[in-house]
Amino acid sequence: MKTKTKIFVTAFSLSIAFLSAQNGKVKKHVLDLDGTSTNIKIQPTMYGIFFEDINFAADGGLYAELIKNRSFEFDEPLTGWKQSNTKTLSPNLDSGFLTIITDKSKTNKNFARITVWNDENYVLENEGFRGIGLHQGEKYDFSFNLENVSGNISAVNTKLIDENGMVIFSVSSIIKGAGWQKYSTVFIPSKTIEKAKLQITFTGKGVVNMDMISLFPQNTWKRRKSGLRKDLVQKLYDLQPGFLRFPGGCIVEGRTLAERYQWKKTIGKVEDRENLINKWNNGFAHRLTPDYWQSFGLGFFEYFQLAEDLGAEPLPVLSCGMACQFNTAELVKMEDLDPYIQDALDLIEFANGDSNTKWGKIRTEMGHSKPFNMKFIGVGNEQWGADYIERYKVFEKAIHTKYPDIKIISGSGPSPDGEFFDYGWKELKKLNAQVVDEHYYNFPEWFMKNAGRYDEYNRSGPKVFAGEYAAQSVGVVKPDNKNNWLTALSEAAFMTGLERNADVVTMTSYAPLFAHADGWQWTPDLIWFNNLSSYATPNYYVQKLFSNNKGTDLIKISENRKPLKGENYLYASAVHDLEKNETIIKIVNTDDEKISLEINPKNIKHASKLTKILLTSSGLSDENNFQTETITPKEETQTIKKGKFSVEISANCLVILKLK
Ligand code: AHR
Repeated sequence: MKTKTKIFVTAFSLSIAFLSAQNGKVKKHVLDLDGTSTNIKIQPTMYGIFFEDINFAADGGLYAELIKNRSFEFDEPLTGWKQSNTKTLSPNLDSGFLTIITDKSKTNKNFARITVWNDENYVLENEGFRGIGLHQGEKYDFSFNLENVSGNISAVNTKLIDENGMVIFSVSSIIKGAGWQKYSTVFIPSKTIEKAKLQITFTGKGVVNMDMISLFPQNTWKRRKSGLRKDLVQKLYDLQPGFLRFPGGCIVEGRTLAERYQWKKTIGKVEDRENLINKWNNGFAHRLTPDYWQSFGLGFFEYFQLAEDLGAEPLPVLSCGMACQFNTAELVKMEDLDPYIQDALDLIEFANGDSNTKWGKIRTEMGHSKPFNMKFIGVGNEQWGADYIERYKVFEKAIHTKYPDIKIISGSGPSPDGEFFDYGWKELKKLNAQVVDEHYYNFPEWFMKNAGRYDEYNRSGPKVFAGEYAAQSVGVVKPDNKNNWLTALSEAAFMTGLERNADVVTMTSYAPLFAHADGWQWTPDLIWFNNLSSYATPNYYVQKLFSNNKGTDLIKISENRKPLKGENYLYASAVHDLEKNETIIKIVNTDDEKISLEINPKNIKHASKLTKILLTSSGLSDENNFQTETITPKEETQTIKKGKFSVEISANCLVILKLK
């Protein structure tokens, strides 16, 4: 299917393509591969991960808790919960009722007070995150905190039910003693269910208080208790990411300053982490998600731990005192900026300080005495204008005075060009900023056309972090965007340009990362999941192929002495991997015709085995899905002569060529 707009093709190349197709001949390109050192290192951080709690990425996704609103903390405290046999919360019902007791002085403000009049009829039900995903035969830790207030309630009976109301597991917890107590038990469901529910009933009549009603799979990443969803972390691990940027995204900024992400509220005991509405809750009128909150079970300690598990540099991004400029654009006054700056300084101590420091001690108490060795920090997410520059300056001075080795990431706003972008770059250059974050969400054609974007960037200015990018098949924030092959192919073409400019571009990441099939707000996304499984998009495989083959040193590949950045639909970059003793070439052919390449290696001695990894699909609108991942890398080998060799590259294809 030919849906591409080839907007920058020359009349000449069109006619060649037409003639060669007519003659039935395969178009041939002669490429020179020069192994001479360019003295340009591919940074270990070149390909990383951007994580934001959007599309149920954390609660309902990576954070494996299965009970939504486990602690009754949402603004509507019964969100996710349903009482049956009661129509209102009036006390004069024949079965029972639930009220919320609030203590505003606490961070975990609410608990449920349950009065049971008729224990045969009162049922409290939780719907999970668009259902509860359960795998047959696996073990799940169920727990709750309960205080027996009055009456003779002797047991809490918990059932898991399938979509038809059939019981797939049930257990009773015997209630004993006075005061708050934690009750724990293990569930082993008899069936795999994507959208189960949890039901609680009581034996006896009386009043109990309940809080932190929780259900977690035991089979989490590294089998950590109350940990992260294993299949999702595995997909991140397989990317071999150079860094992990967290916790966003606009979520860092918040709709208002009060709703900004405050890392200190996300550490310590999980039950004491104050819940906060998620910025994406009502972000888009076409995808309202009123049940989207942040429990912070996945908080800053867990993010650092995840980065460590992935072998990625942690890159936390903090609020710089500016709420999302697409929302309230609320601004902290300059004279009130200190607490924000202190948060940044304290965070560095939390990550890197030894156990004698105030924040290093807290990290140690949380189970990680070894420092996380954080090297980067982001000041603001996607801010723009003079207000940002003014605040950035103060942050920069404070951070570098105390921690001169920390690299600061600054922002250039939401677009890859225009007034805000130009202003931001001009000012940041004057300030000798270290790394500037650029964001681009645009059409596939933009990505193909911009593979030369960084060729002209100043080599002595700030480095670039291509921190958020993704090709949009329909348009930015359009719900019908697809992760189709055309978008992935165009990103691959663009990425050869990032790699070719590795002396300027030192960090890159696709965005957003995750989306729940029933709980998303933003498309396209790198990895899609439901309550049971996940699949990788073609865009994911593009990221993986670049990241897994990033090499260590840039070398030159050219056609007619010119870099390959889209002329004749052909893109390429090449690296040496000095650790693996390999030469790796990345070729992207965005033509609808297959081509033949003659590659002339100079100053490279190579073996006769050529490994080819191909990523392609016959249709540009093809996608992967939960049932099948048809677009996945396929590996083959070819024996080649020493020196000049030829390879065929299919139409619309990314190929990685590896030579020992
Ligand atoms: O990736 C989704 C959003 O896009 C991010 O939160 C924000 O930084 C950008 O506008």
